[in-house]
Amino acid sequence: MPARTNELALFARELLRNPRDISAAVPSSRALAAAMAREVGPQTGRVIEFGPGTGRITRAILARGVAPGDLTLFEMNPEFSRLLEDRFTGVRVVNAPAQAAAAEAPGVGAVISGLPLLSMPPAIQSEILAAAFAVLRPGAAYVQFTYGRRPPLDDAVRRELRLEVTPGSKVWQNLPPARIYLYRRADDVCANSQQEAISRL
Ligand SMILES: C[S@@+](CC[C@H](N)C(=O)[O-])C[C@H]1O[C@@H](n2cnc3c(N)ncnc32)[C@H](O)[C@@H]1O
Repeated sequence: MPARTNELALFARELLRNPRDISAAVPSSRALAAAMAREVGPQTGRVIEFGPGTGRITRAILARGVAPGDLTLFEMNPEFSRLLEDRFTGVRVVNAPAQAAAAEAPGVGAVISGLPLLSMPPAIQSEILAAAFAVLRPGAAYVQFTYGRRPPLDDAVRRELRLEVTPGSKVWQNLPPARIYLYRRADDVCANSQQEAISRL
């Protein structure tokens, strides 16, 4: 069977087994994966991906020039984790929930998330975002897509964690179309704008 058919068959099987964890009918399109990876490049340093599934966004991150040794994937599903290990030589695959990323060394340049955040209860959203911001370096972004009309993170959680949200691009070439959002620490965003204002004086 061709690799793409295998991938779709595995995705469909795991969707039937774990509908709540996967929450998507098909993997992300190439257009959405490329848009999600736009924030990163060889200069980003270490990158973490949450919920890579079959690796559509992983491939786009590597295509941006991130070194395989700089990329760590947190995937809860053991079947997807095995596939990712086979597919992406040199990339570290952690078969654990995204919350476990809190134990990584700090200084991460970006967290790219394909998690179904919108369908998670606020307490879990809070744990996941707190784990990401425990390791992200100042000014670095947490990138998340959603099929919903509103930002995917509960607003009370966003305020509690003192995050700013910026809407990114809308990707129509995806089933269903998706919007990308970038989250950063509000204090970092504020410090950056002050810095920019000073440099303009
Ligand atoms: C909607 S699929 C997205 C797959 C892939 N990123 C894509 O865009 O095609 C969501 C993925 O997140 C994984 N997942 C769900 N909850 C998770 C968690 N708490 N930690 C890590 N992975 C999780 C699922 O197993 C699944 O692979």
